[in-house]
Amino acid sequence: MTNKSLAKAPADTCILVTGGAGFIGSHTCVELLERGYSIVIVDDLSNSNAKAIDRIREIAGIGPSAEDQARVVFYEASILDEPALERIFESHDIDAIIHFAGLKAVGESVAKPLEYYWNNVAGTLVLCRVARAYGVKNIVFSSSATVYGEPAFVPITEECPKREATNPYGQTKSMLERILTDLHIGDPEWNVVLLRYFNPIGAHESGLIGEDPKGLPNNLVPYVAQVAVGRLASVGVFGDDYPTPDGTGVRDYIHVVDLARGHVAALDWMGGRVGTGAPSGPDAIAAEPAPCGSRRGVGVFNLGTGTGSSVLDVIHSYERACGKELPYEIKPRRAGDIAENYAACDKAREELGWVAEYDLDRMCADSWRWQSTNPYGYEEA
Ligand code: UD1
Repeated sequence: MTNKSLAKAPADTCILVTGGAGFIGSHTCVELLERGYSIVIVDDLSNSNAKAIDRIREIAGIGPSAEDQARVVFYEASILDEPALERIFESHDIDAIIHFAGLKAVGESVAKPLEYYWNNVAGTLVLCRVARAYGVKNIVFSSSATVYGEPAFVPITEECPKREATNPYGQTKSMLERILTDLHIGDPEWNVVLLRYFNPIGAHESGLIGEDPKGLPNNLVPYVAQVAVGRLASVGVFGDDYPTPDGTGVRDYIHVVDLARGHVAALDWMGGRVGTGAPSGPDAIAAEPAPCGSRRGVGVFNLGTGTGSSVLDVIHSYERACGKELPYEIKPRRAGDIAENYAACDKAREELGWVAEYDLDRMCADSWRWQSTNPYGYEEA
């Protein structure tokens, strides 16, 4: 079997997006469609909503014609369902995978380790096994800055050592980076891009798609958004005694649309359309150059803005976006939190030709547009 190559035009390329109905997945689907790709979405809807698929079509201007409809196909299926994946690979000429599907709540992962290892690790193994059988050996993986743990230094470069994760969620990200790297070592036909996200927030500027957490939000911005829209009374600020300028935790927030574009850049890189050649850094493994220029080995990239913002910076930026004061109270530190992390983004700029464009105010303004027009997310009320 000939392995699938990305060294061709997006219009001739079909991407399997696992978890494509989710927050980052849905925004990436929009960017892929706008670049001309066709997509097949696989999502079990365990933490997402099928309405996101309709909204993706709406934003991308997918019409009723058969040709348009064929560009976005959705399957409600789990990546653990091997027969379902086989049917999908049988029915579509898939060239590459962008793999978002996975459980992602840190606290829940401590309580439910079996579910996290099973869904995230076993699910990815099933996905890769089926993909390999169909000659699809191009994968972009949704990793996280969580793999750096308490970072050895900031700004965090890709050379920063990985540290033992303090929870099963983080362990799955770290393990899957290792597993996907080993796939390439065992079979250099595998092209792997590991994207280490910092803190994705914001929403598409249309206000049609955004983050829609089920239950009480775990992360700062969805929590602030629900306070702003009146669903929650006040934001708890977890600690004001960190060694940071205002004492609250500092993170590198990145607009989800910028992040989504980072995935499109990763596909370009795998297809030999950007960058100068071999990946660099200790985790990167250079592939033998292939005649088609489409073999790149393993690429590891931070996706962040390079700018750190504190919890109070975020609350104040959101106040500017929604035009009102947001009540907050200082609470004790949250277990497992670190004082600050933010990315060095030079490698993504140099090798992927990608930089984040949007600042914190824009992120909050777009988040607010989504939250204020969809106060209960994809649900009616
Ligand atoms: C968290 C996860 C990280 C995961 C990422 C995914 C933890 C410890 N880390 O990152 O592994 O990859 O989400 O998006 O859960 N904060 C408050 N009040 C809140 C919520 C958060 O003050 O109600 C503070 C936190 O202490 C932190 C900052 O806001 O300083 C950001 O928190 P959060 O949005 O949960 O992201 P991370 O903890 O950076």
